[in-house]
Amino acid sequence: PTEEAGFAELTGPTGSTGPQESLLGPGSTAVAHPNIALIKYWGKRDEQLVIPYVDSLSMTLDVFPTHTTVRLDPEAQTDGVILDGRPAEGEPRRRVVVFLDLVRELAGRTERAAVDTRNAVPTGAGLASSASGFAALAVAATAAYGLDLDPTALSRLARRGSASASRSIFGGFALCHAGRGVGEAADLSSYAEPVPLPDFDPALVVALVNAGPKAVSSRAAMRRTVETSPLYQAWATSSKGDLTDMRAALLRGDLEAVGEIAERNALGMHATMLAARPAVRYLSPATVAVLDGVLQLRKDGVAAYATMDAGPNVKVLCHPEAAPRVAETLLAAAPGCSVLTARRGPGARLRTADEQ
Ligand code: DP6
Repeated sequence: PTEEAGFAELTGPTGSTGPQESLLGPGSTAVAHPNIALIKYWGKRDEQLVIPYVDSLSMTLDVFPTHTTVRLDPEAQTDGVILDGRPAEGEPRRRVVVFLDLVRELAGRTERAAVDTRNAVPTGAGLASSASGFAALAVAATAAYGLDLDPTALSRLARRGSASASRSIFGGFALCHAGRGVGEAADLSSYAEPVPLPDFDPALVVALVNAGPKAVSSRAAMRRTVETSPLYQAWATSSKGDLTDMRAALLRGDLEAVGEIAERNALGMHATMLAARPAVRYLSPATVAVLDGVLQLRKDGVAAYATMDAGPNVKVLCHPEAAPRVAETLLAAAPGCSVLTARRGPGARLRTADEQ
């Protein structure tokens, strides 16, 4: 509810952030949710086009949405970017402007835009995902510039903002193809597609570990891993087998196998980072305490499996009915953390006029 209230403030007729904005009209507003990869993407073979080395497979969540409004501003000389109520600066702003340039090029238009984006994540939780951010921006910006892209084209476009964003275009489970070839061929063949699994609806207990800002951005960390980690190629190769096994396990609806494969794939990814020079270590003592809690749960006969991204937080896959017990155990294992249970969530979409 608080997120929705915050969003109404952002876009409602009485809540616009300044007199200038009200002259720009309502614009286009999109909402998108983050996703968690069960088979991870880590490493780019083309940084400019954002082409991953490996295929990845994820579950879009029903928590932590990003709401983004894009209004065209024909009078403006530069794009305006508001992130969580404040003007964005530096790299976050640059990434949005580069993305808008791409949309303008596709639309054959030149007007600048005012972007207002709000993440519903707890501040400093380390889950302010670029996935939901660029998926929402792709949907809102293409609508604002009058482009009508099919889901595949939208996913390819979102990938240019952040590869994981290509998956948040879709709800439920999505597979992102690393693509083939180089240049335009790679760009055309790297996108996500839905993996329809109507009956597979596990819980994902998110353990938010309080560990301050991350030391290395995921972008820099994955570059360093690819360039210097002797384990990277081995992980990328084993990831192919993980994906094959994962698809089979998902089709069987076999949560235990899905969890085991997801956990080994994530731990392998973190091993590649630990072997980078200098090492990239996102896992904190509290992360390890949560992982111990997961092991204890399994010893006690509860199916629970962990995955971690470029940060200390742990996401634990389990049967929905086990989620309260999993949450309680993780809290006891790492008393400083907070937990929340997510389920599969919807794909990115435009908000209708009624909702605005
Ligand atoms: C560890 O998609 O944030 O979460 O493409 O550089 O923006 P860029 O990276 P991003 O990386 C996500 C990496 C990951 C694993 C995953 O989500 O697949």
